Amino acid sequence: MNIILLGPPGAGKGTQSANLVENHKMRQLSTGDMLRAAVKAQTPVGLEAKAVMERGDLVSDEIVSSLISDELAAMSDDTGVIFDGYPRTEAQATSLDEILEQHGRKLDHVIELEVNEDALVERITGRFSCASCGALYHDTANPPKVEGVCDACGSTEFKRRPDDNEDTVRNRMAEYRAKTAPILPIYDARGIVTRVDGMASISQVTQALNAILAS
Ligand code: AP5
Repeated sequence: MNIILLGPPGAGKGTQSANLVENHKMRQLSTGDMLRAAVKAQTPVGLEAKAVMERGDLVSDEIVSSLISDELAAMSDDTGVIFDGYPRTEAQATSLDEILEQHGRKLDHVIELEVNEDALVERITGRFSCASCGALYHDTANPPKVEGVCDACGSTEFKRRPDDNEDTVRNRMAEYRAKTAPILPIYDARGIVTRVDGMASISQVTQALNAILAS
């Protein structure tokens, strides 16, 4: 099973990927996470990507497609994959088709999380994650069960993303509208797009995704 989770910043792609990894034993390939790891490690890719990400612009197609290609090459071809935040442009969609073909894989579902953009700024500015295991939280919608303690690993250290401020978020949304939303018709034409109400609660969205994967 290979699926793409599409939706603007804060739509819930990372949150739902974590559920799919746990419930369906799939692998999450998040280009955002890969790029943040590269920035942290100060690799050449990270040094190039840092300022672009801080502005909320898109990193080059060549860089992100090569990250995805390397990850897929390193994993068993029968492992199910969730593409989280990739592809984001027509060029990336074309590259993904080529990469999947090289590995004998096909796309089963493209799931678009439909959201109200005005609500997303609040979602994103309230987001934080465990500094140790990366589990995602939100100040009000999804806080840890015990305040200050990660549900998943018990760590008491948390962090916020540098690009999660209102100005950058609005630019990320504009990039989504201009460059990413236009790739949906490619997948609509193949009849593999399902739209899910991303404004429902986290558990309702998870149920909807589980139903799609079971169909
Ligand atoms: P990336 O890391 O992919 O960020 P994004 O697409 O902007 O998406 P987010 O991670 O912000 O949101 P999400 O949909 O995962 O929401 P989440 O589940 O966390 O990309 C970052 C940057 O990297 C880009 O700007 C770009 O520069 C670069 N980049 C990455 N990929 C690239 C590519 N392919 N090409 C070029 N450049 C690329 O949820 C958000 C919050 O809401 C959380 O706090 C969560 O708890 C809460 N929440 C989630 N669901 C719900 C719900 N249903 N109800 C209430 N709260 C909810």
